[in-house]
Amino acid sequence: MTDKIGLIGGTGPLGQGLALRWSFAGEPIIMGSRQQEKADRIAGEINTRLNTDLIQPMTNEECIQEAEIVLISTPFNFMIQTIEPLIPYLSEEKILVDVTVPLKPFAKGKMVDILSHDDLRALSATELLRKTIPQQVPVVGAFKTLSNSTLREIDRLPVLEQDVFIFSKDKAAKNKVKEKAVKIKNLRPVDAGGTLSARHVERFTAFLIGLNRRYKTHDSGIKVSGLPKREW
Ligand SMILES: NC(=O)c1ccc[n+]([C@@H]2O[C@H](COP(=O)([O-])OP(=O)(O)OC[C@H]3O[C@@H](n4cnc5c(N)ncnc54)[C@H](OP(=O)(O)O)[C@@H]3O)[C@@H](O)[C@H]2O)c1
Repeated sequence: MTDKIGLIGGTGPLGQGLALRWSFAGEPIIMGSRQQEKADRIAGEINTRLNTDLIQPMTNEECIQEAEIVLISTPFNFMIQTIEPLIPYLSEEKILVDVTVPLKPFAKGKMVDILSHDDLRALSATELLRKTIPQQVPVVGAFKTLSNSTLREIDRLPVLEQDVFIFSKDKAAKNKVKEKAVKIKNLRPVDAGGTLSARHVERFTAFLIGLNRRYKTHDSGIKVSGLPKREW
């Protein structure tokens, strides 16, 4: 067992952005995909860009076995069907991190919103994942308000002055995810409480995408004011 981060569906824009930032900080990453060749290609591109070999390409199935902190970074609609066959590889030693945002398909000029509760079968994606995964496996929600393009544009935006909201009822798991989050320069971890906070945080993301569209940017993010300085 390692303390490596694995990204299931890590070949997408968010997975690429996180892999880039973490490997830039010297953190080894496993990039998972349904197709080994796709993971090889995309991991290879980022490794070449950073002149490193820290991103290891694997299938999703290998990724979940090798990594200790496993981010599920598929589109929300495929999260449960992707993770269910992989449940036998999970244990209390691993941490499953939900980064998904259950957005309604959005059309030009229409408000960006999250899926309704009926579609979701829970009140948020993280709660749905929590209901699906055996209770002994820690589930954390995090990284939901970070924009993939902001993460990927490391030359233009070397420092991210943003908050990352991390939530779970499992404090030890939350701490481990926080330790990884702070490797990304200037990201401030915010202890966002338990899994129920996903109901708010997933809505923040819909709101940020709406702001991005209005201001013709991809860079909006959140920094909460007034939080006292403390260990977290
Ligand atoms: N993009 C952002 O800025 C952002 C920000 C915050 C949160 N999020 C959330 O993070 C997650 C990933 O975002 P993304 O933009 O990177 O998503 P994406 O490009 O749509 O999908 C990510 C990866 O998921 C895999 N995938 C696609 N369809 C699948 C299917 N039917 N079954 C299983 N795997 C499938 C693909 O990997 P393979 O083909 O290699 O298997 C794909 O590269 C989403 O849930 C999104 O809501 C995104």
